[in-house]
Amino acid sequence: SGLRAGQGGPAAAAAQQPATSPELTVLYGTESGNSESLADQTVKAAKGSGFKAKAVNMADLKVAKLKDIQNLLVIVSTWGEGDPPETAVDFYEEFMSDKAPKLENTRFSVLGLGDTSYEHFCKMGKDFDSRLEALGAKRIYDRKDCDVDYDDDYEAWHAGALKALEAEAGASATATAPAAATAAAAPVKYSRKNPFPAELKERVLLNGKGSAKETIHLEFDLEGSGLTYETGDALAVIPHNASDVVEDLLKASKLDGDTKVSLKDGEFSLHEALTSHLDITALSKPVLSRYNEFAKSDELDAVINDKEKLSDFIYGRDVVDLLTEYPAKELTADALVGIMRKLPPRLYSIASSPKAHPDEVHLTVGVVRYSSNSRPRKGVCSTYLAERIEEGQKAEVFVSPNKNFKLPADPDTPVIMVGPGTGIAPFRAFIEERQATGAKGKNWLFFGDQHYLTDFLYQTEWQSYLADGILTKLDVAFSRDQKHKIYVQDRMRENAKELYAWLLEGAKFYVCGDANRMAHDVDQALHDIVEQEGGFSKEEAADYVKQLKTDKRYLRDVY
Ligand code: 2AM
Repeated sequence: SGLRAGQGGPAAAAAQQPATSPELTVLYGTESGNSESLADQTVKAAKGSGFKAKAVNMADLKVAKLKDIQNLLVIVSTWGEGDPPETAVDFYEEFMSDKAPKLENTRFSVLGLGDTSYEHFCKMGKDFDSRLEALGAKRIYDRKDCDVDYDDDYEAWHAGALKALEAEAGASATATAPAAATAAAAPVKYSRKNPFPAELKERVLLNGKGSAKETIHLEFDLEGSGLTYETGDALAVIPHNASDVVEDLLKASKLDGDTKVSLKDGEFSLHEALTSHLDITALSKPVLSRYNEFAKSDELDAVINDKEKLSDFIYGRDVVDLLTEYPAKELTADALVGIMRKLPPRLYSIASSPKAHPDEVHLTVGVVRYSSNSRPRKGVCSTYLAERIEEGQKAEVFVSPNKNFKLPADPDTPVIMVGPGTGIAPFRAFIEERQATGAKGKNWLFFGDQHYLTDFLYQTEWQSYLADGILTKLDVAFSRDQKHKIYVQDRMRENAKELYAWLLEGAKFYVCGDANRMAHDVDQALHDIVEQEGGFSKEEAADYVKQLKTDKRYLRDVY
């Protein structure tokens, strides 16, 4: 974020820092870059408070070095089933083991990033917090666990933690003259709090008639916004809920949509709060617990306190089901809005290069629809983009950078891209970028989907890139065009020799798309190919792939 009043910024602070400014390490574990950018912001603020601060990636720090750190702030995100970010796995494992050093000279505070709709909410933050304490470090400010809308909690945490550190470490709080802050006008930065209303210029259904899939291509106008992005970044979209779900919820709660309610960000009618401000679909343990303070159901209580029952219950149910199945007697409008979390933005990997489409951003979105508990269900944001805004209308967006998923800095480096289904999005951007910049490196794309005839996303674009020689090689796997399934990893295996040869030439290997099965199976195929073609043992192949990750040559954007 830009400079705020009272923050002088690095240059202003450095000039006035006392010779003894204490050192501060902001250690982060990041997957998509959120923890990293918060670490960078924290470093800026800390410099303004007189610290000699630096941000350090867990991927680049030896656990043994922790004992040299006196002032430590940790920002770490949690993924999937309570896992560390991929780049932080080694650090985390050693840190939790008995190899970790005693830390009696360390002061610390922890910020956890996570998502309350997952069971192991902020597990990494909790683990780091308790382990640091167990190793003898002194907690100078309480850990904060953040949900997907982390802005406010982050602001409060970093201000509080820095203040506590200042008091303990003796940084000079006067290091920054407030006057220095007024000079630079920071560029506009769009965020959850300050999104940009981008006009939808065009929406095209990418699948042909008869397809089981509904994949849409969207083009938004950014003209005059000053909003910039890079290929590999994601676009965050703030959706509106579907009106039929809002109506169902009003009916189930027997409340009047015109009732005024107050939320953190202001006062709204209940109808408006449910439409544009609150997550009215996702159930989670905290939502059920808050609701049961009104419903007072023993049965619901049993669900809340049993992991397995809880995940069974949550699956395919939403807030309307909760109100219908476990009615609460006296649920006021304020109580109803109080059980729900803020409507989180949804992130989509950007499908365009800003160099190929100045002033535009493109998305490739899979529309989610299914039926459960005998009600039709819709993915909130994908159906918002498919049917609740029209061309010419505006959607609120901001960029969520992904520093880890970038094209190679060297234009001659070959790239291998594996992107079945909507996983194709960032690779369309990559190829556009490489064409626009005249990059000479070879490009190899693996794409897969159900049927050649209806699901070959951006087919004509790939064919013309092939004809132009921009795309060196294209391998497609249409899983349902024959009796047995054929997937992208099968195409990789068929091309094992050549794929390994590209790796020897220094190729980067990218994967985007389904995290549950595809990314895992592609990872297995990569291991097998390296083992077979390199003449390695399983362990050696695993080390080779690990080294690819360390060298940032094996990059994933999976969801
Ligand atoms: P399927 O649904 O026919 O099984 C994009 O959704 C494509 O990814 C589809 O062709 C889908 O095939 C395929 N897919 C499903 N599971 C996969 C897996 N484990 N690995 C790779 N591709 C997979």
